[in-house]
Amino acid sequence: MDKLLPHGEWVAAMRSLLMRGYGFARVGNSFKLRMLASGEETQDVLLLLAGVELANEQTSVSSTSMRTERQTILSLDEELGSEGGEDRGDKEDLSGGLVLSVPAENLTLSPASYATTTGIILAKKHSGKTYLGMVLAEEMLSCSTMKVPLVILDPMGVWGGLCSMEDGSPSPYHILRFGGVYANLPITSKDGAKVAEVVNAIRPHAVQVDMSLLAPVEQHEFVADFSSHLYATSPKSPLHVFIDEADEFAPERLSAASSHQKRSLENLDRLVRRGRGKGIGTTIITQRPAVINKNIRSQFECMWLLNMVDPRDLLAVEELLRRLVTAPQLKECIDCIPALLPGHSYFVQGGFSPKFRKFKVRKKRTLDSSKTPDGMPKVPLLSQPLSEALATAQSVFSKSPAGEPS
Ligand SMILES: Nc1ncnc2c1ncn2[C@@H]1O[C@H](COP(=O)(O)OP(=O)(O)OP(=O)(O)O)[C@@H](O)[C@H]1O
Ligand SMILES: [Mg+2]
Repeated sequence: MDKLLPHGEWVAAMRSLLMRGYGFARVGNSFKLRMLASGEETQDVLLLLAGVELANEQTSVSSTSMRTERQTILSLDEELGSEGGEDRGDKEDLSGGLVLSVPAENLTLSPASYATTTGIILAKKHSGKTYLGMVLAEEMLSCSTMKVPLVILDPMGVWGGLCSMEDGSPSPYHILRFGGVYANLPITSKDGAKVAEVVNAIRPHAVQVDMSLLAPVEQHEFVADFSSHLYATSPKSPLHVFIDEADEFAPERLSAASSHQKRSLENLDRLVRRGRGKGIGTTIITQRPAVINKNIRSQFECMWLLNMVDPRDLLAVEELLRRLVTAPQLKECIDCIPALLPGHSYFVQGGFSPKFRKFKVRKKRTLDSSKTPDGMPKVPLLSQPLSEALATAQSVFSKSPAGEPS
């Protein structure tokens, strides 16, 4: 085991050894192979490489642009008085990854691989699911190495905070807002296919669909048409879809009151299951793992687990985790999740790049819009979508629906 790896095929070789349960120790610009101690976390090849001169030579990303972006983000955090300045991994060049934790090195993900991944954020009510989703979205929106097109399906109308800062000024993120009280373009339950058409036409521009002004059955109709059209017309390139309160649209048990829910389930199932082939990744957000449809549950490649206490939820989590982690990791999760403090989470990922991390979610840069209102809401100034994106959307919306005379 005391062997120094040669250069050349070392990244692929390291990845393969990590998958077999080995670990590495850094020795200058090389890595020394070692056995992982029992119960020790699996290492992440990207994090091992972060900050190493060798890695910088291999990446196609300009290190100057990465550094500039990182400096902008850090100075933004300082302006906002974010906690734990010394804690944020400032010392390490995190190579344009999605920085989700404090300190940053506890959880930094590759944007390219997360963009096309199917993940789920799980926690009991009011435990930071939407907050974590928005931190993920902020990272994707400000990513210097890859512009990931985002779509946010937001039934409660709480993701608009991404467009504004805590002091009420506009955020630096350009997001086209469909529906809700701050809409760039209002929507009805019949507009799902048009919104999907716009999403594809304005890539990589981000889109938020605020469905808070639609009744539940109208939301089901919208999501059914949106997901069917998005899957059918999506080109083969990365796109990430956040689905908040996803059990509304892909439930294990259909509601008798909604004729559209069955269609929304079928179409979302196809989008999640087959979308990967087209580069579509999803982050499903829900309070209860057991109420998400079984077929969709079987697709998760990674899980974000915040505080949960209900034994039925823990049982369902245990079942999902079995596919992704080792027995000791499973035990640690189930023992610790009920005691997780607000803002603390596990991230687990199976497959070719297994990960098992416990981390503190970094502070959001934009307005905390999912906070329970504690007084008169102040009206924030919102960032606006790029004018070409808005013009494209207006042009799609001005067309008559298929089959109807204009
Ligand atoms: N990581 C965090 N750091 C700081 N505050 C947080 C964090 N996570 C959550 N909060 C606070 O808790 C509030 C509730 O979080 P959030 O809306 O994300 O919960 P939720 O799990 O989505 O709730 P629901 O089940 O009602 O959808 C946030 O608005 C925020 O004020
Ligand atoms: Mg929420």
